[in-house]
Amino acid sequence: MKDFFNDISEKYDLVNDIITFGLIRVFRRMLFSDVPKAKVCIELAAGTGSNLPYLLGNYETIYCVDPSDQMLAKLTKKFNHEVVIPVCKQAEEFLNLKADCVVVSFGFRNFYDRQKVLENITRYLEPGGYLLVMDVFKPKSIIDEFFLKTFFSFFCIPLGWLITGSRESYEYFFQSIFSFVTYNKFIEDIEKLGFKTLYAWSFLSLGILKLVKK
Ligand SMILES: C[S@@+](CC[C@H](N)C(=O)[O-])C[C@H]1O[C@@H](n2cnc3c(N)ncnc32)[C@H](O)[C@@H]1O
Repeated sequence: MKDFFNDISEKYDLVNDIITFGLIRVFRRMLFSDVPKAKVCIELAAGTGSNLPYLLGNYETIYCVDPSDQMLAKLTKKFNHEVVIPVCKQAEEFLNLKADCVVVSFGFRNFYDRQKVLENITRYLEPGGYLLVMDVFKPKSIIDEFFLKTFFSFFCIPLGWLITGSRESYEYFFQSIFSFVTYNKFIEDIEKLGFKTLYAWSFLSLGILKLVKK
């Protein structure tokens, strides 16, 4: 799977902007609004650092974890900043760190052991620490499924393919949504681990969650 992201790292952000008509930036802003400033943030599946503009200035140290060296190379090129520490690892590997905030945007679907990552996050976070999650969840209704299939088949996959040259990567994204959990199931699972939901917003299959560790 690592290769999918290496293949598209150069054009990843451009494609996101085009396929969402720029709305991705609004969603990212929503994810980080009203989150208190703190010392340490860990971003898992950090990719090319698309969330860093919203995180810089709010934390003293930001660890950006991702196994794709090409995605991290792009991140480092864009944000050569002493606050930002790239970590080339999978989210399933435990980092001996304590954090005030953990961010995972469009990452959970790619983890080969979601439960393990959730356990890691629970151990990283200080009590009262924030977990911020944004993702495209498994459709919860036939209408959502129809919209998603149409959007990917006629727009997202052809455009992603055209711009990056990798059809497989965008087909993989599509499949990963269907092997993910629904938004409601995700909230249920995470609350069982001792998190309280502070904010939950969803539109079709997209979901934004802000949770706090009890
Ligand atoms: C769709 S991108 C999301 C990037 C970024 N978070 C964003 O909001 O645009 C998914 C990222 O997950 C990373 N990834 C894949 N498997 C992973 C794993 N096991 N642990 C951590 N990151 C992983 C990929 O390398 C890729 O950069």
